[in-house]
Amino acid sequence: MIDADLAIVDASELVTVPGAAPRRGADQADLGIIEHGCLAARDGLIVFVGDERDYRRQVRLERKGVEIDATGRTVLPGFMDPHTHLPFAGSREHEFARRLAGATYEEIAAQGGGILATVEATRRASSETLVELGKARLNRMLRHGTTTIEAKSGYGLSLEDEIKQLRVLKTLDGIHPVDIVPTFLGAHAVPGEYRNDRTSYVREIVERMIPEVAGQDLARFCDVFVDEIAFTAQEAATILGAAAQRGLGLRVHADQLRDSGGALLAARLGAASADHLEHTGEEGIRALAGSGTAAVLLPGAAFFLRSGAPSLGRRLVDAQVPVALATDFNPGTCPTEAMPAILPMACLHFGLSPAEAIVAATLNASYALGLASRTGSLEVGKAADVQVLGVPNHLHLVYHFGVNHCRTVVKGGRLVVEEGVLAGEAWRAPSGNGATDKASGRFGP
Ligand code: NIG
Ligand code: FE
Repeated sequence: MIDADLAIVDASELVTVPGAAPRRGADQADLGIIEHGCLAARDGLIVFVGDERDYRRQVRLERKGVEIDATGRTVLPGFMDPHTHLPFAGSREHEFARRLAGATYEEIAAQGGGILATVEATRRASSETLVELGKARLNRMLRHGTTTIEAKSGYGLSLEDEIKQLRVLKTLDGIHPVDIVPTFLGAHAVPGEYRNDRTSYVREIVERMIPEVAGQDLARFCDVFVDEIAFTAQEAATILGAAAQRGLGLRVHADQLRDSGGALLAARLGAASADHLEHTGEEGIRALAGSGTAAVLLPGAAFFLRSGAPSLGRRLVDAQVPVALATDFNPGTCPTEAMPAILPMACLHFGLSPAEAIVAATLNASYALGLASRTGSLEVGKAADVQVLGVPNHLHLVYHFGVNHCRTVVKGGRLVVEEGVLAGEAWRAPSGNGATDKASGRFGP
């Protein structure tokens, strides 16, 4: 018999997305669905996946174990969100209104708004404020089925303020059930102090920020925004080369506003991901296909900037590039924490099928973070990071859009959302390093 301390039984669809390698081409649509599926976990890891008959025969749930009835419901791996800008202060709803009245994102940035407006607000905010804001955002993510995210700095743009953001991420990772993979994005914009001397800012990133961030083990990845309003491909190559030398993995904000050679650079450097890609040309797509670099698509940002790239997802999947999806959660181009908001956009505006979008938001997103051997699918040996949706099949996730279908979330084998409500004790102010909070299950409303 297989001993378990948690089980989810009789799902109308148990969507397993098995594998540790990224899904490409036709395989991107393979969900590995088990009807009347059951899953069991022990000590945070999945120990059984199969149908109900085998579950009844093979699994013994311990007396105090939790059994979740998923009759008529759909069970999926927890969403992985591999591109967020979580730690920031302030909001930019007035810029949004200006854009609706005709101003462009670039015009607003050129006038000192955009990223630099959020930099100002974030520099002014204390770490405690950023932690409080972060908790509320992570709670919203968790309630929408997200169990792991990547999160970037990039609203500090000075050594001290970038480190402040990365330390906030470490604190949040310690106290909140959602796991956070931290990325250093000092090259998000050229800060005002360096407006007339961008070379010195690149030097500051390479010579001071990267060594400090890597030395303090504050980030797993380094990202650069390659674009006309940010950094050139050549500047990015210098920055990412220095990051790689210090052992950081690489990511690129590529070709969001123009084709700026971002995808080509990401593929050439063997980056973990090239993100955005709304304006990537055929050459860039071919380069990605020939590399191990994942394409992280951000249809929420394209929607919010009205910069559609119809069939972008279709072209990438057909070219055998592993496609992942993320929110790009940030105050300027995508202020939503909800992965379920992203999947319908990926299908309706980027040409993915619902099955491809689900693979993109689970296994391929996990691959984009270098975690695919541990998370992103429901199979024996992987982390028990699971969501239960109150719908009878996976198509409803895209079809019945605009509402949150996520009813139950299990993170690391622990029940953290119960019938749409966060489970566990209310948040306590993080004391000490906060690590005990995560272990003991105290997280909040
Ligand atoms: O991914 N493109 C650059 N960075 C963000 C936008 C950040 C902001 O506007 O604050 C993005 O879209
Ligand atoms: Fe982004």
